[in-house]
Amino acid sequence: MYKDLENKVVVITGASTGLGKAMAERFGKEKARVVLNYLKDDSDYQEIIQTIEAAGGKAVAIKGDVTKEEDVKKLMEYAVEKFGTIDVMINNAGIENEVPSEKLTLEDWQKVIDVNLTGMFLASREAISYMLEHNIKGNVINMSSVHDRIPWPHFVHYAASKGGVKMMTETLALEYAPKGIRVNNISPGAIDTPINAEKFNDPKATQEVIDLIPMGYIGKPEQIAACAVWLASEESSYVTGMTLYADGGMTKYPGFQAGKG
Ligand code: BGC
Repeated sequence: MYKDLENKVVVITGASTGLGKAMAERFGKEKARVVLNYLKDDSDYQEIIQTIEAAGGKAVAIKGDVTKEEDVKKLMEYAVEKFGTIDVMINNAGIENEVPSEKLTLEDWQKVIDVNLTGMFLASREAISYMLEHNIKGNVINMSSVHDRIPWPHFVHYAASKGGVKMMTETLALEYAPKGIRVNNISPGAIDTPINAEKFNDPKATQEVIDLIPMGYIGKPEQIAACAVWLASEESSYVTGMTLYADGGMTKYPGFQAGKG
């Protein structure tokens, strides 16, 4: 538990499922005030709000598309209207789809770049400008991926977006460090979330992924949420511009594990 997170206002995009949901619930346990952004009407955000409140936190939810400037502005306004400030911005909303690169349409390329990179830029910009205006030494946490450094055939748009997120994080960290605003990245490996459901329903495909993980298992969303609360807390107060790989060793060249080479 991180005492300083109590009552902190934490805005999370894509908060109704997967890693966003796990982070929202963990911030609830820290008794933070959580603003959930969700995209789809059938999202189970009500249930997440109840879980957060049962744990002693507070939560509200607002629908919005992170690729739309006006929706992102509304998200920030809603946070301020409901809870009075913004302390932590977690850019989590992200999408992926598998297509061989020679067949990737401009539309698909654009969609992934819009959500994964432009969406994160828009919410970072809005949150940082609020923090600057109100002299808040806040935190921005971007959800990147191991694919901000591991090339990923058939997912060129996704890998390009995450590489962009990593450099955006580092640039913003440098730019706002003098103001006490920290900007960091979390780069998860293979985690058991709905984005991977199809793959992990297939035992062969699952084993192929496990073979890429030196620690030998698929990560749990709670393990990523644990990174997020640490990065948002004062315990990481001297950490900025960093990418925290939470990947069971996936970025450490598992092919070399046996000492060959
Ligand atoms: C992707 C997952 C993938 C993992 C490891 C993540 O960024 O969202 O689908 O399993 O990287 O390749």
